[in-house]
Amino acid sequence: MVNTSVQLSTMHLDNPVIPASGTFGFGYEFAELYDINVLGSISMKGTTREPRFGNPTPRIAECTAGLINSVGLQNPGIDKVIEHEIPELSKYYTKPVIANISGFAIDEYVECCEKADKVDKIGMIELNISCPNVHNGGMSFGTSAESAYEVTKAVRAVTSKPLFVKLTPNAPSIAEIAVACEKAGADGVSLINTLLGMRIDLKTRKPVIANVKGGFSGPAVFPVALRMVYEVYEAVNIPIMGMGGVSSAADVIEMMLAGATAVQVGAANLKDPYACKNIIDELPIEMAKLGIENLSDIIGGAH
Ligand code: FUM
Repeated sequence: MVNTSVQLSTMHLDNPVIPASGTFGFGYEFAELYDINVLGSISMKGTTREPRFGNPTPRIAECTAGLINSVGLQNPGIDKVIEHEIPELSKYYTKPVIANISGFAIDEYVECCEKADKVDKIGMIELNISCPNVHNGGMSFGTSAESAYEVTKAVRAVTSKPLFVKLTPNAPSIAEIAVACEKAGADGVSLINTLLGMRIDLKTRKPVIANVKGGFSGPAVFPVALRMVYEVYEAVNIPIMGMGGVSSAADVIEMMLAGATAVQVGAANLKDPYACKNIIDELPIEMAKLGIENLSDIIGGAH
């Protein structure tokens, strides 16, 4: 019998598999398909202070081995998430969840995190400074070490929950940003968010996505994500949630060897709503094949 459990900051996870923010709604939508309690945790849809309708459509473009999205942080706002989405999720999911907090200004991040800090069901805050689909916020905080430090420090002051910062691959050095977040008091980092990309429709000769550019994710980005997790592991002393193109139990193991303590699954959920469940089912079989008894023993094993 293999042991798939991992300790992620203060959260004890039965297994390291977590659906990534933006690919799994607020979680309860999937409860009619399977018992979502099999999931290590759930990172909920990126939440802002105000409700947001999101970007104009089309917001999705298909690509070889992946897709581009430009959703634009559509969400009902932090108050509604606390009053409605989390209680609804709690009917089906008994474990602590991860609140992915997005914003356009430091005071907005702070206000949302202050509110999230008071919610027992939230076991961790994932500070999203890496959304490529909004102007004047999101990713702009995650592309310079100074602004990443500033927003992390400000949020650190208002929450005692584990604070992970979600990083963008669209920065000159993701390791430098991770170091800045660690210095500002982050308990961990999540990486990678999507890579900025675009498609052009050959018939209209115009960009497919209304917002022109969007975030590219899916199996095609896996080697890039893996390389970045590997580099960040060497740069910081805080745990990493690895993500980017993960679509099998073997990918989870590879991410952990690169340095991830937990692994998020994103685009795969959009292709197959059972993706996380299938990966969790496969994980003990894959571990047995590779002679792994305790999954947590392999974290950073490739270094
Ligand atoms: O557009 C979106 O809602 C995506 C968010 C993200 O990549 O963090």
